[in-house]
Amino acid sequence: MNYMARNFTEDNSADLVLARNAGCDDPRLQRIMEVLVRHLHAAVRELQLTTAEWEAAIGFLTATGQICSDRRQEFILLSDTLGVSMLVDAINNRKVDHATPSTVLGPFHVDGAPQSAMGDSISRDGKGDRLLVHGAVLAPDGSPIEGALLDVWQTSADGYYDTQDPTQPDMNLRGLFRTGADGRFWFRSIVPASYPIPDDGPVGRMLAALKRHPMRPAHIHFIVDAPGYDRLTTHIFREGDPYLESDAVFGVKDDLVVPFDAVEDPDWAAGLGVSGCFHHARIVIRLQPTAAAVHGR
Ligand code: BEZ
Ligand code: FE
Repeated sequence: MNYMARNFTEDNSADLVLARNAGCDDPRLQRIMEVLVRHLHAAVRELQLTTAEWEAAIGFLTATGQICSDRRQEFILLSDTLGVSMLVDAINNRKVDHATPSTVLGPFHVDGAPQSAMGDSISRDGKGDRLLVHGAVLAPDGSPIEGALLDVWQTSADGYYDTQDPTQPDMNLRGLFRTGADGRFWFRSIVPASYPIPDDGPVGRMLAALKRHPMRPAHIHFIVDAPGYDRLTTHIFREGDPYLESDAVFGVKDDLVVPFDAVEDPDWAAGLGVSGCFHHARIVIRLQPTAAAVHGR
């Protein structure tokens, strides 16, 4: 069959489009378009898509683009809620040797968090239940990694990031920490809340139509960098959170769920400069050596 020809039919549709792409001189682009076009045409055929449904889909994608701005990225939310972000993350961050799993970056990371000293508080307004986070960054053999840089961010007790909430101080609940010679780090914060992803746009309407909630379980984000190891983008989640089984963006992995124990220890509290009960989370982060480090290059 001459695919440069006319006479597009239900049966030859994908072949005809792909033949038209045959001159592409970028093999990866050509392969991506081949797979996309085949799956898209197969979906339209399997669904016997109506013209009204196709128009609704175009309207949805148009609205998704129109709500994007330099403060809002609706296409990433769409990718997150369809599980595509986590699938790309899984394919690109396969772990060995019990390395700590990665999870979604999300849209609320900002560059330039304040460099903080061990034990500093990242709460710049003091609002919320006190939380102490202790952790260690380790190599696969359990040896400590000194000088690992941890970029940490989380929501307020109301479930908002500082960038979403004009009542919070700039850089509230964000900080950069470096591990000591023993691989350990610790900082003070407040207990984060479970919160809805932005759901006042097309993605929120899609979730509502699908009878899905927009909630994420309470978590603290980390990006961990150390020379000779793969960068790790991950979270810790609060054990017992009601949304652990139904995270709107599919980010929960068992190894990332830790208890935030309530502590009533007046001496410890006094040493931290707090009164009454506080919460305590402990985490161990195991980094994966880069391929170059493993192969001695
Ligand atoms: C977050 O955890 O910050 C997040 C991740 C994906 C979508 C929205 C928010
Ligand atoms: Fe988050």
